[in-house]
Amino acid sequence: MSKNYYITTPIYYPSAKPHMGHAYSSIIADFFARIKKIQGFDVFFLTGTDEHGLKIQRAAEKNGLSPKDFCDKISITFKNLSKILNLSNNDFIRTTEKRHFKSVQYLWNILEKNNEIYLSKYSGWYSVSDEAFYNDDEIETIEGEKKSKLSGSKVEWVEEESYFFKLSKWQKPLLDFYEENPNFILPKSRKNEVVSFVKSGLKDLSVSRKSFSWGIKVPSNNEHVIYVWLDALTNYLSALNYPDTNNKLYNNFWPASLHLIGKDILRFHSIYWPAFLLAANIPLPKRIYGHGWILSGEEKMSKSKGNILDPIEIIEKYGLDPLRYYLIKEVSFGNDGNISQDKLESCINSDLANNFGNLCQRVISFNEKNLNLIIPKEIKFNDSDLKILNNFKNNYDELLKFIDDQDINSYINYIVDRLFASNKYFNDEEPWKKKNDMIRMNTIMYVSLELIRKICILLYPVIPESCMKVLKIFNIKESEINFESINDNNFLECGKKISKINILFKKIENHD
Ligand code: ME8
Ligand code: MG
Repeated sequence: MSKNYYITTPIYYPSAKPHMGHAYSSIIADFFARIKKIQGFDVFFLTGTDEHGLKIQRAAEKNGLSPKDFCDKISITFKNLSKILNLSNNDFIRTTEKRHFKSVQYLWNILEKNNEIYLSKYSGWYSVSDEAFYNDDEIETIEGEKKSKLSGSKVEWVEEESYFFKLSKWQKPLLDFYEENPNFILPKSRKNEVVSFVKSGLKDLSVSRKSFSWGIKVPSNNEHVIYVWLDALTNYLSALNYPDTNNKLYNNFWPASLHLIGKDILRFHSIYWPAFLLAANIPLPKRIYGHGWILSGEEKMSKSKGNILDPIEIIEKYGLDPLRYYLIKEVSFGNDGNISQDKLESCINSDLANNFGNLCQRVISFNEKNLNLIIPKEIKFNDSDLKILNNFKNNYDELLKFIDDQDINSYINYIVDRLFASNKYFNDEEPWKKKNDMIRMNTIMYVSLELIRKICILLYPVIPESCMKVLKIFNIKESEINFESINDNNFLECGKKISKINILFKKIENHD
């Protein structure tokens, strides 16, 4: 099995500053990047911004800036967000970079050479907000305005000369591919939507525009710019130095292991992208996962709706790890989810302060008071010790499966269950009553420290900063974290000194 793992987020439109939905995709992707890294994979994690097209050109005009100046200004806010979110991304790509132009034009030339592209005329509906063409049966009229039934965004009529990609000829190969690779599109419910859409018939796709100029030019005809989605999707290759297919990045990391995206852009990733790749003889990514939306009340949080919850404000108020934890645990992955300050506060109190924080605090403080911050030497496990310690090993294969199935909720529910069990163990064993039986007290302490260590490794991809604070107490460095070591019951070296612990999560008072 290949020990390389390539994960991507969508590249975001820098048409306005980032919001919670963008933070969500990025945090989930970071969870997978980190977990694969501690499993020993060589990970390449990519994010970035999608800077061409009419949507950006119009947003720039509105702001009285040139498209490039406008993109420079907003793209940096996305780049900064990736730092604020503590993303472990290896690269941040902007589609206005030279390396990307080169890669898109190269891909275009292959498609043209392979006779997959022809010049004709487009007439139909176009949504600038989605940068998408819609069929007549996908349009409805609401209060006199034509809108997409799928996204609700306004559409306008377009009639112009355009290059077309022969998407229709890929209908059958795509259906075959979905059938042979049943987990190519996840979750299942969304896969079914894609399959029925493809079955209903694919029309050739307009892949160039003539009426505006903000984009990458068609190499053989500089009156046309390349359709922004053909441009944007190619970012996943550009970042690996495509078309140089002999270089290390491309060789190690293509095809991508996982394109993580929101359900709004599933059609582009699971139909257009594989069709372009098939037509260019490039291997297909292994998986497309379309997650749900973060809602504000009942509505999708979006720049165009103006109902955004600012991730940076939330982080300033509560800290980063509570937000990461909330989005990973409280949103049922694959479905839509909600976030409010109220829900976030109750999650901080119940899970982070009372459960995780409490376990670390009470065990390490007890050690400080009674055992001088030393990992006890003389220990002797009994059956109940072995039972709680071995639970990790006994569930190891299942945990790996959760990760590879993107079953984030089962993964984190396992951790929460272990947190409860560990707190209960410490309560039930009552080490404070064992002053006359030092071996027992030592053993309870050793087991509790091991439980904390194991849980911190499991939680590290979710809340890396907080887990590092705890693992550093044991002198474990970030680069040394090894997922498999959750199976080891004697990892901590007896007799070694540990450090004191500071408060990890403050309980939010006046919250009921
Ligand atoms: O679509 N809830 O960019 P975009 C959850 N440039 N996720 C959300 C969300 C919400 N309310 N709103 C946005 C584009 N997202 C293209 C992508 S990829 C080659 C090009 C997330 O700025 C989600 O991942 O509109 C969604 O797919 C992405 O942001 C769209 O961001
Ligand atoms: Mg969008």
